[in-house]
Amino acid sequence: MDRIVIRGGRRLTGAIPISGAKNAALPLMAACLLTDQPLVLSNVPAVADIASMANLLAELGVDVARQDAADYGQTLTLTAREVKDITAPYDLVRKMRASVLVLGPLLARCGHARVSLPGGCAIGTRPVDQHLKALSELGATIRLDSGYIEAAAPAGLVGTTITFPFVTVTGTENILMAACLARGETVLHNAAREPEVVDLATCLVAMGAQIDGIGSDTLRIIGVDRLRGAAHEVLPDRIETGTYAVAAAITGGDVELLGARADLISSVMDSLAAAGVAVTPTNRGLRVALKNGPVQGIDVMTEPFPGFPTDMQAQMMALMTIAGGAAMITETVFENRFMHVPELCRMGANINVHGASAIVRGVPGLKGAPVMATDLRASVSLVLAGLAASGETVVNRVYHLDRGYERIEAKLVGCGADIERFRERRDD
Ligand code: EPZ
Repeated sequence: MDRIVIRGGRRLTGAIPISGAKNAALPLMAACLLTDQPLVLSNVPAVADIASMANLLAELGVDVARQDAADYGQTLTLTAREVKDITAPYDLVRKMRASVLVLGPLLARCGHARVSLPGGCAIGTRPVDQHLKALSELGATIRLDSGYIEAAAPAGLVGTTITFPFVTVTGTENILMAACLARGETVLHNAAREPEVVDLATCLVAMGAQIDGIGSDTLRIIGVDRLRGAAHEVLPDRIETGTYAVAAAITGGDVELLGARADLISSVMDSLAAAGVAVTPTNRGLRVALKNGPVQGIDVMTEPFPGFPTDMQAQMMALMTIAGGAAMITETVFENRFMHVPELCRMGANINVHGASAIVRGVPGLKGAPVMATDLRASVSLVLAGLAASGETVVNRVYHLDRGYERIEAKLVGCGADIERFRERRDD
């Protein structure tokens, strides 16, 4: 397994290009199943999760054509002329739980679907019960058999009113896609408002779907008989934006994030501003630098959009480890998203976890150490800590990082970081 070595203590200066959003591209890719016409997606990040979704779609019979962009990203042309298989197998789904996003489209297009139940993952059990409940309210029969979801709607899905008891991002996305081809009107109450959901809805409308309330927590969909192909540019990744904003702040640097959009991360910008980090819109994106003096500890609580994103919690915690004063970080979305805490403590951080909250007391500095990555965002928080730490940090199991960050070393080296990847010689 590859590992990344960081020699910390260098200020980042320069510019970092922001890639397309992984968590928008994944549902957008699944949407190709809703039509037999080509769906062209540009600004797709070249990361492992996207490759996994492309492999799954190819298994289902989708023609996947890929064109790399000059430096970062790729354009995918996805054509589900006919769906040859309706099974999303365990060996693919276990690698990427977002594979469950093919469930709604397969059911709507083919009248049945067989999708492996995604197991839990490091950050929580992450059930999909709300996906299944909503699909059955749309008229599907759902059976669980030997670890698979067997969903059937041979006479098609029928629109209805659905209220999610709590916000679920991919739950909203799965049902939104299914409802586009259902008979009649579907109303989704308490729908997720994440920018990635808005991006999906915008693309679906371009494909001929009838959706109102985009960006609000109530989506109104009038089903249509068929959808057409479209061309859609994936929106910039707000979590990558926030991650590199923290990289600039934690090193006391001054970095311009190219292509970043302030409207996608206003809650993160507000928190950074309260901590003493200036995030200023420029004509190329966003510029991040310390206002004056060191970062100050602030309290953060994760919430569904437009609140502070859970996917930025680990990164903010890394910044707070060297802030002046204390910070209380509360995780309200997932039940086990503090795995980065013991690793940060091995680097000299002072963090105490009490249930869903972590108290971070700032220390003068961190010391590099060998650390273990456990999930995508915990991994990147260790890279951020390594950039600020004195000495050498070795981050193992970087395959977690590669799931969601496109060429992270190249982007950081481009701003003066001393970071290197060592490919582990395979023993076989
Ligand atoms: C999406 O996951 C993102 N993944 C996650 O990003 C992100 O952390 C999460 O939304 C929250 O913003 C993708 O978009 C591919 P949820 P998702 O359904 O949809 C519970 C990353 O790092 N729940 O909004 O799976 C669930 O356990 C990843 O890029 C149920 O109980 O998250 C969680 O506690 C990590 N039953 C909460 O709701 C359900 O049927 C929110 O989950 C569905 C969810």
